[in-house]
Amino acid sequence: SGYLAATEFASTAVQQEAHVSKEITILYGSQTGNAQKLAEKTGEVLKSHGFHVHVLSMLDFKPNDLKKIDTLLVVVSTYGEGEPPDNALSFYEFLHSKRAPKLNHLRFSVLALGDTSYEHFCKTGKDFDQRLKELGGERLYERVDCDVDYEEAAAKWLDGVLSELNKQGGGSVTVLPQQSQVKPVSNYSRKHPFQAEVLENINLNGRGSNKETRHIELSLEGSGLVFEPGDALGVFPKNDPELVDLIIQEMKWNPDTPVSVEGKEEPLREVLLSRLEITVLTEQLLQSLVSFSRHPDFHVLLSSEQEVKRKEYMKGRDVLDVLRDFGPWDMSPDQFVSSLRKLQPRFYSIASSLLAYPDEVHITVGAVRYEAHGRLRKGVCSTFCAERLHVGDQLPVFVHQNPNFKLPKDTNTPIIMVGPGTGVAPFRSFLQEREAIGAKGKSWLFFGDQHFVTDFLYQTEWQAWLKNGVLTKMDVAFSRDTDQKVYVQHRMLERSKELFRWLEDGAVVYVCGDKQHMARDVHQTLIHVIEKEGNMTSEQAEAYIAEMQKQKRYQRDVY
Ligand code: 2AM
Repeated sequence: SGYLAATEFASTAVQQEAHVSKEITILYGSQTGNAQKLAEKTGEVLKSHGFHVHVLSMLDFKPNDLKKIDTLLVVVSTYGEGEPPDNALSFYEFLHSKRAPKLNHLRFSVLALGDTSYEHFCKTGKDFDQRLKELGGERLYERVDCDVDYEEAAAKWLDGVLSELNKQGGGSVTVLPQQSQVKPVSNYSRKHPFQAEVLENINLNGRGSNKETRHIELSLEGSGLVFEPGDALGVFPKNDPELVDLIIQEMKWNPDTPVSVEGKEEPLREVLLSRLEITVLTEQLLQSLVSFSRHPDFHVLLSSEQEVKRKEYMKGRDVLDVLRDFGPWDMSPDQFVSSLRKLQPRFYSIASSLLAYPDEVHITVGAVRYEAHGRLRKGVCSTFCAERLHVGDQLPVFVHQNPNFKLPKDTNTPIIMVGPGTGVAPFRSFLQEREAIGAKGKSWLFFGDQHFVTDFLYQTEWQAWLKNGVLTKMDVAFSRDTDQKVYVQHRMLERSKELFRWLEDGAVVYVCGDKQHMARDVHQTLIHVIEKEGNMTSEQAEAYIAEMQKQKRYQRDVY
């Protein structure tokens, strides 16, 4: 891979001068583990070149130590609407506060992870970069912003950082033990996914529900793939053939025309079905299409003054809309295809435990369908799973470890799980695991969905666990069975006294599911519960939560 190639190149360059002691601190802020993995890889590479390296989460870093550091590498992702990952938040706030020290002695470089299909691409990395500079730091190497396919850009960054460090003197040979290690998993990976056979694919919702939630069981036999509760499964979907055919018809192309993608020739239709993104619009995509359009409005829309309008246009529209809205086109299938991004895997929180289902992995997939701009829109992977994935088919998958969503090592630790809708998936995995190992710790599940009768996902399983004691307590909130909507956070508030007692007893709180509304409201509710039951001011309650976060007692898997 690009990453390895670059690091091998760098290794020969630095080796000879490993005599001056050089300490490097690598701080990561990571929500789903990618930034952490990259930081750890970077640390390993630098160590192998004789540098004295500390790799740690921003959460575990004492901000006052900044004064003692002369070389800092920051690896940080951005999620949602430009927000820092949970474990980066306190350091981010510290740096942007008045308490932040002058950093005239500091040399730094930032590797920013992000997704160009979001408006605030790499915002957290950009903010760190700018702020460290403002505080007096000097850029060791220019910031690199990575899109979802981050390997190549990350390799370029590491290469650049290494050669700068090299210029300024090599490292010592002291090697520190590393904080945490991400174990390698089998031969199968994102680059080389495993073809998993579909064992089961059923709709968990009853007739008349507004929802369709698929429970999918896959075989991992022969893959060597392993995972822990809290990890996610990466899934490569195929695009909707109807949408692909509409695109081809719109352009009056021949579906069998050979086109080349990454040096391989394949029929156009096949490429659009299984190799490229045709739903998500990005700024880059529009920019690369503009020269092929003869429509004056498209050129206006792409001008720098039209940024606001352009962002508005991109919302809820896809490639077919662009082709329809801005023809006529002077564009060959090859030119079109080379404008599109590679089809990305989608991630689902794993819903099973290997101890309960060896050689299997289960996921819970909510089909996304909605109407926008006069056309039915479908989530690529979820509707692929719902409409075109059958028992016996093979699905390309890989395991994505998530070190930030893990059961406590001590099986006696109480756990509180908040997971409305498909957010309940990882908790099925948690309880399967706890049952299998005979964990004694108490557990409490908050689940919610629209209707009791049709949407109580995995109802009989929770009930069996309540009966045999694996699950201590369960509170449910069915939002559309009553006049007034009730959500999981309302149940939490009703139980505030007991909830706070659990927190005081050291319980770990897990929240999984919708980030924008649910996770935010649940967070506010937790603060409220702590204020009320702990007789605290809101500042004290927030500090209480921050402390829980530091102790990894508040973990979120939200999207
Ligand atoms: P609703 O669809 O009736 O609004 C799973 O999708 C459940 O989460 C549904 O019952 C949904 O309710 C509910 N939900 C919607 N917004 C929420 C929020 N801000 N906090 C908690 N639950 C929410």
